Amino acid sequence: MKSGLFRRKTVEELLQKNGNVQLKQTLGAFDLVLLGIGAIVGTGIFILPGTVAAEHSGPAIVFSFIIASIVCALAGLCYSEFSSSVPVTGSAYTYGYIVFGELVAWLVGWALLLEYGLAVAAVATGWSSYLSSLLEGFNLTIPRAISSSFNPAEGTYLNVPAIAIIFTIAFLLSLGIKESTKINAIMVFIKVIVILLFIGVGIFYVEPANWQPFMPFGMNGVLGGAALVFFAYLGFDAVSSAAEEVKNPQRNMPIGIIGSLFICTILYVAVSLVLTGIVSYNHLNVSDPVSFVMQVVNQDWVAGIISLGAVVGMMTVILVMLYGGTRLLYALGRDGLLPKSMSELNKKYKTPVKNTWLFATLVAFCAGVIPLSKLAELVNMGTLIAFTVVSIGVVYLRKNKSIPSGSFKVPFFPVIPILSFLLCLFLITQLSVFTWIACAIWFVFGLIIYFTYGRKHSIMNKE
Ligand code: ALA
Repeated sequence: MKSGLFRRKTVEELLQKNGNVQLKQTLGAFDLVLLGIGAIVGTGIFILPGTVAAEHSGPAIVFSFIIASIVCALAGLCYSEFSSSVPVTGSAYTYGYIVFGELVAWLVGWALLLEYGLAVAAVATGWSSYLSSLLEGFNLTIPRAISSSFNPAEGTYLNVPAIAIIFTIAFLLSLGIKESTKINAIMVFIKVIVILLFIGVGIFYVEPANWQPFMPFGMNGVLGGAALVFFAYLGFDAVSSAAEEVKNPQRNMPIGIIGSLFICTILYVAVSLVLTGIVSYNHLNVSDPVSFVMQVVNQDWVAGIISLGAVVGMMTVILVMLYGGTRLLYALGRDGLLPKSMSELNKKYKTPVKNTWLFATLVAFCAGVIPLSKLAELVNMGTLIAFTVVSIGVVYLRKNKSIPSGSFKVPFFPVIPILSFLLCLFLITQLSVFTWIACAIWFVFGLIIYFTYGRKHSIMNKE
């Protein structure tokens, strides 16, 4: 039995738990880039450029996107090194268990639950806005009172479409639906075409005068904006979790991560420039800015296609994030840090049906009543915390000679991991006080669960 708050798992223990099954190494760099774009492009690009430009950055939102992409690229390199050294599932939670021990692992897992759960809620909220805008094109209206977050002052109470899409996807997941790379490739294709259509049509309506003033809220606005649009890049860590299935990971992993981030950055910057060039940034505080500006310039058919593409594209992000959350709960239950029922598999479908419905219900509640902006900030907080642990974790990983080193190494060690760590911390400081308080409450709650339950029931007590 190992005791102490910082008891660590070894790579051998983790591999034994996985039955030491070797996955087939089939994915190449191009597959990884597609996987990355599939997981990354969702609500962020279709919604955030509008609200963030209006309230935080103005047209200089392009700089916010570039800064956020640099932070993600550095963290992405650290993820690549971990995933090639510790080829087991569980992402940052598992990495934390090996390098820093159980308490840190639990806290990272707890932060990731916040990320996955609220990301699903946020994307579902965005999905609901685009669904309403799509239906309006057919003269169908969902009453506002039941298609927006709880705000009685505005006459809105519950976001029913957001709740409905979460339960629908939870149902598919509980049946054991598999994300095949083929479906993913089709979805990526649709999303990218829709975005290119927007850029291609919108560019003809750009009035450079709308870019003046370019930085109405100064550098502070740009940095605050970066902490928010960071959300639009989430999902790239999904690429790193495919490490075991990649051919020549040393070469392909960084290409996959950096390549997908690079393409997304170009798309995001182009969309933001066109968006803020068509109408002044202060008119962009709407929930479906990309189709909204197309309606402003009377391109209703383009607006309709964009809404349709957004509605389809966002569903894959909900699926991937919901999947991530349920599998994390599964890992926490299996390790004894949460009740065993979290890791129970349904006999027929071989999926964790119980935890899927529990998770979906909690997340649907958040999606039904909390507005998107607050959700997105909390998601970013959870993710940035996981990134700081992974970044600094690489330094400890290299020091720990008992862990066999993987094939990929972060270049310019230790500068990049430390820089990544500091930049993530910096973005955390840019988030609002509300987010800090909400996050602190979440962690206090997490610590209570760990000390009253997880510590006693951890399977490390038996090992
Ligand atoms: N990056 C994902 C999105 O923008 C979370 O929807």
